[in-house]
Amino acid sequence: MPSLLILNGPNLNLLGTRQPEVYGSTTLQDIEDMCRSHAAKTGWTVDFLQSNHEGALIDAIHQARGVKDGIIFNAGAYTHTSVALMDAISSAEVPVVELHLSNIHAREAFRHKSFIAPVAVGQICGFGAHGYILAMDAMRARIDG
Ligand code: DQA
Repeated sequence: MPSLLILNGPNLNLLGTRQPEVYGSTTLQDIEDMCRSHAAKTGWTVDFLQSNHEGALIDAIHQARGVKDGIIFNAGAYTHTSVALMDAISSAEVPVVELHLSNIHAREAFRHKSFIAPVAVGQICGFGAHGYILAMDAMRARIDG
């Protein structure tokens, strides 16, 4: 069974109550439940992790090396700032799909820049919580070839 890490960065623990007009009313727990049920249907083993700390996200990416077949990563605001996360992904040799609930390209200019995008296999944004399912399917198609 392919093994997937779904990694969520800062402030995503507040989903559901955080700016629902931007991010929707689905909680991170709802998203985890949805991903676990999709994983069960499609034959994935899935780990789900959220952290507000850049170092913890870097550690999780390092630990995925040689262990996980793919990472779906919503790096939150670190997307737009973190060379360290970009370097971690470059070093991990695990394919990463970058994910955002909102369409970062339709928002403030500082959100248009992503340090994750150049080292990701692709980016999914703007589809709300459903994006996690799209990302899982995209990763699966890539792994299955
Ligand atoms: C986000 C977009 C980021 O710009 C923002 O800082 C977030 C959430 C998204 O899922 O739309 O925290 O990654």
